[in-house]
Amino acid sequence: MLELREVTVAFGALRAVDGVSLDIPVGAIAALIGPNGAGKTTLFNAVAGAQPIGAGAIRFKGRDIAGLPPHRIFAKGLARTFQIPRPFAELSVIENLMTVPLGQAGERFWRNWLTPGAVRAEERRLRDKAEAVLDFVTLRPLALAPARTLSGGQSKLLELARVLMADPAFVLLDEPAAGVNPALLETIVDKIRTLNARGIGFLVIEHNIDLVTRLCHPIVVMAQGRVVTMGDAAAVRADPRVIEAYLGDQP
Ligand SMILES: Nc1ncnc2c1ncn2[C@@H]1O[C@H](COP(=O)(O)OP(=O)(O)O)[C@@H](O)[C@H]1O
Ligand SMILES: [Mg+2]
Repeated sequence: MLELREVTVAFGALRAVDGVSLDIPVGAIAALIGPNGAGKTTLFNAVAGAQPIGAGAIRFKGRDIAGLPPHRIFAKGLARTFQIPRPFAELSVIENLMTVPLGQAGERFWRNWLTPGAVRAEERRLRDKAEAVLDFVTLRPLALAPARTLSGGQSKLLELARVLMADPAFVLLDEPAAGVNPALLETIVDKIRTLNARGIGFLVIEHNIDLVTRLCHPIVVMAQGRVVTMGDAAAVRADPRVIEAYLGDQP
């Protein structure tokens, strides 16, 4: 589904991502873990097209995507959520979903402009879809609330909902459990599982090791820009290089 070959991202002298090679199989809920500063978010930015890579190759469903702008990658079905959610704070929850660009927006613009009534039909279609997605993520009762009034966990669900508007094949989730209360966390886990059963793949950055162990396979461990190891939870836990990577993070 997603293949990285020797991907490098440097900020001056710092190689935040340093020759990373990875294969995420079709149908996986994979995890990307590692201490702070390991390069996880930078790797997500590179895959999503938000960060140019210095070297290497990135393939999604067999196609080269390195160098494509973020909206093109998004349109190919590879979506990402942000570590810190970035909703339009003053827009309502449902408006936040209706502003997600879907498919050939430019083409639709001209068709709508030339065809009276098409705009309303389009808006109705978009609203129906947004309502269905909000039902799925349990945010429908908050559809008209301004996004800024959501809790941390609800904001994470809104991020997921925005991504689902585009019918992605693969989703990069950056710390979906951070700052989320336990009840809402179960909802998020349940939604990820349901989406995965419908064929959507995931790569999840997460510090909550309980969630990672329950939900993810394989688990990729990064430290100092490199992949330390990759495997199932038991193998990763037993790997002395993983312990060293985390202990090396202590002051
Ligand atoms: N835009 C940037 N400019 C310079 N350095 C950066 C930038 N983004 C991240 N870094 C550095 O790259 C390293 C990896 O950061 P990051 O990818 O955020 O790690 P993680 O998500 O694993 O905590 C860190 O040392 C961080 O300070
Ligand atoms: Mg990060």
